[in-house]
Amino acid sequence: MPPTARTIAVIGCTGFIGRRIGAQLLARGDRVLALVRPSSRHRAALPAGVEAVESDLVANDPRLTAALQRADAVVYAAGAVRGRTLADFLPANVQGVSAVAEVLAREAQPRQVVLLSSLAAAAPELSHYAQSKRRGELVLTAAPASLPWIVLRPTAVYGPGDRELRPVFDLMRRGWMFTPGAADQRLSFIEVDDVVRAVLAALDHADAANHGIFALDDGRPGGYDRTTLARSLRPAGRMRCVPVPRGLLAGIARINLRLAQFCGYAPMLTPGKVREITHPAWLGDNAPFTAATGWTPQSDLATGTRALFG
Ligand SMILES: NC(=O)c1ccc[n+]([C@@H]2O[C@H](COP(=O)([O-])OP(=O)(O)OC[C@H]3O[C@@H](n4cnc5c(N)ncnc54)[C@H](OP(=O)(O)O)[C@@H]3O)[C@@H](O)[C@H]2O)c1
Repeated sequence: MPPTARTIAVIGCTGFIGRRIGAQLLARGDRVLALVRPSSRHRAALPAGVEAVESDLVANDPRLTAALQRADAVVYAAGAVRGRTLADFLPANVQGVSAVAEVLAREAQPRQVVLLSSLAAAAPELSHYAQSKRRGELVLTAAPASLPWIVLRPTAVYGPGDRELRPVFDLMRRGWMFTPGAADQRLSFIEVDDVVRAVLAALDHADAANHGIFALDDGRPGGYDRTTLARSLRPAGRMRCVPVPRGLLAGIARINLRLAQFCGYAPMLTPGKVREITHPAWLGDNAPFTAATGWTPQSDLATGTRALFG
């Protein structure tokens, strides 16, 4: 339970992670103001009980200012995770953060913002996505010191409602593991409700964790190599490992980029995404966030995916 029930503005409350944040805040007795862009096609995903407020993520939208002024704290869980050019990622990952920070910093006693960044921000050279996530963090590090903020950098998140990792895990459960990375690649994962608990911990320990940038994963030391990944998803039975040549994947990504330009969709598989998924090691360290807030993850990949797949 929070010390006292508060009003929390959640930006990105229609998304995979944001909707679970909204639901958990409500479940523990907080009020949730869900800021939803007018063009959202996912309004039906909002948890029952949140108050939806229409607003664009731009500083001069009076609806954004009015909503933020009603909130005791803000969770920024909006983000663009697919796109063709850097410009596709900027509105949600940088300009929106800037708009929110600007409104909050104007107050005499600015309210806290918790930003969901990404472990990708630690390697901004890899992709437009990674660069935009880092730039979103820099908006907060450059804000007036009076603005309280906490940045959380989850690694790859899975759980109910996820559409990105789910198909990969589905194949692995059936015994097929496609491996575009090097043989000694090390990956990390985190279950969505552990991310949600981290957000709640950040809200509840605003002072102890203030102005910190914290990596989050499931706490497995050194992450997962191919063997431990395979064993987590398919504890019994054979796993067929299918190496995917990096050059082939990069070629498909380039074609996908062209098609996206031609057909007008936001691509997931891009050359930048290939660099991300073949990166040698995606590892974080939970220790600083645990020390500041007491948060610890509750699911490793085996237990988290067993609960997910039943
Ligand atoms: N999923 C992961 O594995 C993972 C890992 C690390 C970090 N993260 C970060 O966590 C955050 C949430 O990710 P997710 O997986 O929940 O993504 P998601 O399911 O795609 O949800 C994205 C959310 O952001 C909103 N949004 C996108 N562009 C917007 C814009 N221009 N203006 C206002 N709202 C906008 C969407 O609202 P609409 O309903 O309007 O589309 C939706 O609520 C992102 O910042 C992502 O970078 C995710």
